[in-house]
Amino acid sequence: MISKSFLQRLGREHGTPLFVVDHDALRRNYREFKKYLPRVQAYFAVKANPLPEIVRTFYQEGASFDVASMPEFNIVYENIQGMSPKARQDWIWDKIIYANPNKPVETLEELNQYKPLVTFDNAEELVKISKHAPQAGVALRLKVANTGAMVELSSKFGAAPGEAVDLILLADKLGLTCEGLSFHVGSQTTNFENYVQALALCSSIFNEARDRGYAKMNLVDIGGGFPARYDDTVKPFRELARVINHELGRLFPKDIQVLAEPGRFLVANAGYTVSKVIGKAVRDGKPSYYINDGVYHTYSGVIFDHCKYPVRAFKRGATRLSAVYGPTCDALDVISMAENLPELNRDDLVYSELIGAYSHASSTHFNGFPPAKVVHVNM
Ligand SMILES: Cc1ncc(COP(=O)(O)O)c(C=O)c1O
Repeated sequence: MISKSFLQRLGREHGTPLFVVDHDALRRNYREFKKYLPRVQAYFAVKANPLPEIVRTFYQEGASFDVASMPEFNIVYENIQGMSPKARQDWIWDKIIYANPNKPVETLEELNQYKPLVTFDNAEELVKISKHAPQAGVALRLKVANTGAMVELSSKFGAAPGEAVDLILLADKLGLTCEGLSFHVGSQTTNFENYVQALALCSSIFNEARDRGYAKMNLVDIGGGFPARYDDTVKPFRELARVINHELGRLFPKDIQVLAEPGRFLVANAGYTVSKVIGKAVRDGKPSYYINDGVYHTYSGVIFDHCKYPVRAFKRGATRLSAVYGPTCDALDVISMAENLPELNRDDLVYSELIGAYSHASSTHFNGFPPAKVVHVNM
């Protein structure tokens, strides 16, 4: 954890808005994931924070990667460029999953040379893959309950359980190998039951596929969703891991490979933002601060991720309920209407913690304001 005083110093030294990444935290998160889920191969979901330095740190830790676009694939690929073609090919097969169920033809054509593992969730996509990336291995993404997740994904992705084995058999008919099943219980899932139900569903689909003559599946991809501890109501990771380990042991023989695609869990607590007050007003009787970072920038998770990031002051003093706005001309650019803050002045610095996931990653250039400068510490 970076101390408040260090963060303040970084803000002064580098200027604001500043996005700080603590690589010790990245390593700690990855090791915690591996410690409590030893059977699970962890594929960092690059979309959560695609900074090449972050990918590099996870690469050095031995992580695998979930990519969802060609640019994300290339960020990972940079790390393995020096390998021999054979070693690189093996590495890609072992350590990358292209986990976007819908892929442009151009992407499939580019990916094909790498013989990648890719996900799909419908017949149309399978036909496309068989034509444009016939060397790919495929994994069927299932629609599973996302109950209570902060970010719901099942309305957009996943095959209905009733059509799963038909799709697996279609893949086989098209000359593709369906290596296994994947799912996503929704991001920031604190309802562990989602994993329990999804694993039971996978087990029943494995059995149905075998009964209907298809026995080549050997992997289960349990996706992402592992919650970051934004507050104390989120149970420790080891408690979720205990539930998952129990279900894996009960339902899947040891020779079934298990993978996961953690994004948020690995990066959320490694990111901080420091910004400064650029204007102030009293609106409807409430102190209101305009800062030089907002929801079009590092606080983009307020909109896209349905996440809240408390804005804190370095300064001490009696607090009042205040509003905090971003710097753009759009009235949507509201970070919070209710922060307890001391009286702030122009140029005072403020900060937020736990803002490493789906934040800088979805920052825009809206209104001409560029994304925050990035500083890496403990790299
Ligand atoms: C296919 C897939 N895998 C993994 C992730 C990462 O999820 P999380 O950040 O909840 O771990 C996502 C997030 O949207 C996803 O769509």
